[in-house]
Amino acid sequence: MTAITPRSRLNVVIAGHVDHGKSTVAGRLASDTGNLPQGKLDSVRGFCEQNSRPFEYAFLLDALKEERSQGITIDAARMFLRTARRDYLIIDAPGHSEFIKNMVSGASSASAALLVIDAEEGVRENSRRHGYLLSMLGISQIAVLVNKMDLVGYRQEVFQNIAAEYAAALAQFGIAARVFIPTAAALGENISLRAVASMPWYSGPSTLDALEAFPAPPAPIDGPVRMPVQDVYRFEGSGDERPIVAGTVESGSLRAGDEMVFYPSGKTSVIKALQDSAAGCAGPGQAVGFTLTETLDLRRGEVAARRGETPPHVSQLLRASVFWFGGDALRKGRDYQLKLGTARVVARLEEVARVVDTCTLEVQVGRDCVERNEAGECILRLQAPLAFEKSSENLGLGRFVLVADYEICGAGLVREPLGVSPPEGDLV
Ligand code: GTP
Ligand code: MG
Repeated sequence: MTAITPRSRLNVVIAGHVDHGKSTVAGRLASDTGNLPQGKLDSVRGFCEQNSRPFEYAFLLDALKEERSQGITIDAARMFLRTARRDYLIIDAPGHSEFIKNMVSGASSASAALLVIDAEEGVRENSRRHGYLLSMLGISQIAVLVNKMDLVGYRQEVFQNIAAEYAAALAQFGIAARVFIPTAAALGENISLRAVASMPWYSGPSTLDALEAFPAPPAPIDGPVRMPVQDVYRFEGSGDERPIVAGTVESGSLRAGDEMVFYPSGKTSVIKALQDSAAGCAGPGQAVGFTLTETLDLRRGEVAARRGETPPHVSQLLRASVFWFGGDALRKGRDYQLKLGTARVVARLEEVARVVDTCTLEVQVGRDCVERNEAGECILRLQAPLAFEKSSENLGLGRFVLVADYEICGAGLVREPLGVSPPEGDLV
């Protein structure tokens, strides 16, 4: 069997204020790099003509959504691009709150961002908010597109003023853009090709070149093993009654014979066999099932780690940054569902150290709640012990959402555990 080197992938989120051209950038990138299904561009053009509407690249994303029912895994919010260098997952979420949910729900852990600002409208509140979120989520590969340059006569000073204003905003959030690019996405200018004719004063990269130049995110393969338990299956009457522990590897790599510790319970056992694994090991991003030499009573939400490696943190008290977008404020005395990895636990707000308005960056202390569009530095108390990581060390196990009344209302990053230290792995 020939070993196939997996292509590297970069997940890129497209951020920015409403109507500033996010979907147009995404559509144009797909089209200009030859990543649209055959005939798609023509069919959207035909549809627009029949309905006497001007052609819009943004419609391509809606058109691709229809493909979903035919089994192609593209939807309005996600699109795959393939270039000579690597694969991209482009995440284009419609609307502000959808963007936030996408950014923080963990499904799409983006490590790069394109932030789109309309040259005519300039920096608006969600341009700033989204910048703040990128900084909060630790996304440091950022290209800022000053878009719709055609509407301002391709004037260099408009570009420079917006770039300077937004660079100052990002600096306040403690981050910096890798590059600022003047674009006219609807016309394909500085998207995949350099627009030398209309903006001869710009000598930087096109959007595609900027993406290709982003360094690959570090492979979590070398880190300690972490596998949040998704489920435990039992096949009664199959001869072997040993349960199969299933989940997706978050970091490190697993193989038969590994001695595992499950957190927060501290239960231990040895991996007897990996299911359906030709390679004999499973690495980050791979869904895996394994049997253990002992039958343990394990539940969803435990995190499997390898004995001898740094364990995850286990605690019922944590310090976290929470971005709140629920209609009702995050307040004390109320139960919330905290979802982190595969775990679900009831959480309560214990203390609010400070609150930041994510648009104006005004900081308030002495508050006891976090209102919509504010970010709070909070202490959360959990009803049961939880295994997790600091977000600075492992975003997958350091990022959570808070649910109230079945709606995701907040998103957070674990800054540090407070209180209890992790069990050593012999607590059974
Ligand atoms: P939401 O998803 O609603 O937040 O909007 P969006 O940011 O995805 O914007 P979209 O791509 O839908 O573009 C909004 C409008 O701006 C559309 O009518 C586009 O054709 C137009 N537009 C996008 N890029 C350009 C550009 O470079 N020049 C001009 N003149 N119009 C543009
Ligand atoms: Mg859009």
